[in-house]
Amino acid sequence: MLEKIDHVAIVVKDIEKAIKTYADLFGFKLIDRVEGPDNAYRSVKLVCGEITLEILEPVKVSGISVFLEENGPGLHHVSFLTDNILEEMKRVKEYGKSLREDEPTQLNGSRLAYIRPSPPDNVKIELMENKPRPLEEMGGFFDARVDGYETHMLKDVNDTATYVETAKLIPAAKGLKLLDLGCGTGLELDEIFKVNPAVYVTGIDLAKKMLEKLKLKHAARQSQLNLILADYFKYDLGKNVYDVVVSYSSLHHFSHEEKTGLYRKIYACLKPDGFYLEDDYMAPTQEYEDYHYAENKRIRRALGIKEGFYHYDTPCTVENEIAMLKKAGFKSVKQVGQYGIDVALVARK
Ligand SMILES: C[S@@+](CC[C@H](N)C(=O)[O-])C[C@H]1O[C@@H](n2cnc3c(N)ncnc32)[C@H](O)[C@@H]1O
Repeated sequence: MLEKIDHVAIVVKDIEKAIKTYADLFGFKLIDRVEGPDNAYRSVKLVCGEITLEILEPVKVSGISVFLEENGPGLHHVSFLTDNILEEMKRVKEYGKSLREDEPTQLNGSRLAYIRPSPPDNVKIELMENKPRPLEEMGGFFDARVDGYETHMLKDVNDTATYVETAKLIPAAKGLKLLDLGCGTGLELDEIFKVNPAVYVTGIDLAKKMLEKLKLKHAARQSQLNLILADYFKYDLGKNVYDVVVSYSSLHHFSHEEKTGLYRKIYACLKPDGFYLEDDYMAPTQEYEDYHYAENKRIRRALGIKEGFYHYDTPCTVENEIAMLKKAGFKSVKQVGQYGIDVALVARK
């Protein structure tokens, strides 16, 4: 059964201009940003009251770029939310309308199918079923992707500058002790070692294969690397141990309470003049943060997940990050950079 219009999708040439226009004109707020499959397009979701718009901008040659070339900017499709996409697809086929695909495609927690535009209306209709995709347990999620992980991060997710520029903040002092929370394969450490080749690193991560890759990459530095397979929320970080603590792209999966608790531990394990550097995916608006937390809750509830770490992005705004770090005891917290979706913060004791 169809339930409601989920959203109306519009193709534009300049997505940032469109976001600004809808914000200035009606007060639409940005709640989500998604790269299409193979980065063929960029899309955002904007909300105002009950209205949701999806704005699409082609990046590469794709159905969306062809649409823009043939029709210019404008209405791309109307999305109908259904509780049973297979039933709707069957009905559409029996009626004689053409579907773009025989099976629903999965995108960002939804199953989708498209009805090709045809007379009498010539409107492209998206059928959308909001049954959540299964969430993957955190360590398993990263272990399963270890082979393509670095290419994906450097090509599709992060700007390389996020690692190169923030590494310059690490002191070159001899004997520096650095803790890396959620070190993964160590993309940040690759750059940090260039700035301070003698740094002693303790890396904590709960994905075994990610740590193995890091160990292999820096096999020549075994005496400087202490890699710990553990959950950093549970692991005892000690007191007054480290000159610098860093965390890159790891903390955007947790609640405010979990993060504030961890920030207290980070504060305690830093030496008196030490600092914490966080470089992570942060939400551009409060509505964006709220939307992702609400979706995470909805999906976990629907899947019957009560506890445990599952991979789902819940970025926080810079303001909320700063407030949590200050609540944990840090005296000064400053934004020191922005690299695409990543923001870098430095918190001092
Ligand atoms: C997106 S990766 C980032 C890896 C690396 N810092 C980088 O920027 O490439 C996130 C990493 O955080 C780790 N992680 C997530 N939650 C964790 C936790 N509670 N304890 C330890 N590691 C965790 C994951 O296993 C994963 O390797």
